[in-house]
Amino acid sequence: MVTKVIFDTDPGVDDTAALLFIHAAPELDLVGITTVFGNAHIETTTRNALYLAERFNIPCPVAQGAGQALKRRYEGPPTFIHGVDGLGDVGVPETISRTVDPRPAHRFIIDMVKAHPGEITLIAVGRMTNLALALEEAPEIAGLVKQVVIMGGAFGQNGHGGNVTPAAEANIIGDPEAADIMLGVPWPVVVVGLDVTKETFMAPEGLARLVREAGDAGRFIAETSELYKQFHIDRHGLDGIFMHDSCAVAYVLAPELFTTRSGAMRVATEGIAVGQTIQKPDSVNFAPGAWDGLPSQLACIGIDHEAVLELFHQKLALLGN
Ligand code: BDR
Ligand code: CA
Repeated sequence: MVTKVIFDTDPGVDDTAALLFIHAAPELDLVGITTVFGNAHIETTTRNALYLAERFNIPCPVAQGAGQALKRRYEGPPTFIHGVDGLGDVGVPETISRTVDPRPAHRFIIDMVKAHPGEITLIAVGRMTNLALALEEAPEIAGLVKQVVIMGGAFGQNGHGGNVTPAAEANIIGDPEAADIMLGVPWPVVVVGLDVTKETFMAPEGLARLVREAGDAGRFIAETSELYKQFHIDRHGLDGIFMHDSCAVAYVLAPELFTTRSGAMRVATEGIAVGQTIQKPDSVNFAPGAWDGLPSQLACIGIDHEAVLELFHQKLALLGN
């Protein structure tokens, strides 16, 4: 069965690899790309999404989303990770012939979910702002979505805390209020956080394999990843790149490659731990508290990272044929 997917994204170097992973997978039907600020300003992430759609013949609409968080000021792009252009400074053309959908991203999401009740999987790999806005305008969509799989957060599993602060991951601290809203409604959410994405990195041999096997898509991923690779060397002393956003796509394709833990989740919205994702595991009893009455969601706490990378390569190679 083919799964309909809306990809909510801030391209973004690892977002680009994830988008091409979705595009390559015959099991997934990409019905829309929605953009959000984060790795770059919203005008840039939208321009990049349009460019990727045009260059790789991705036929679905692209809808522009939020340019700032629900309640906070955007502090500006992490150019040392994704470049000034959000795509590793490879030189993206300023003008793209593909144009945006007239609807804002959150309304596009609402319309698509209502048009295909029970069929849409949302894969969200940027700030959760568009999802929160969609829920605010049409709370009933929570009952109509098949599944929500997000890249974001960190639960301290496998030794992985935050990547912006010791407590917080970038997509969540970028809009903690939005993340707290979308985790608290009764739709089935799977959180693919740093606990598993930092276990999943592609070494230079993997990038070389993409160049050999995955045609223009493989070459583009390798090219856009150069600056991102340098960041991993400088920051982590690691000769390889984290495949954060692709792990969320892998979960949709092969959930059996992940171990999950069930429980209600909250996001700290103030204090030194702002942006921290905290789960109350269903298996543990606690005194009454802030997690009560909220739906149980799944946090990924383990991953077969070699199998996930192999899956990525196998799907991407389909674009090289
Ligand atoms: C997340 O933040 C962004 O830099 C990446 O695209 C990914 O979605 C990792 O923390
Ligand atoms: Ca991202």
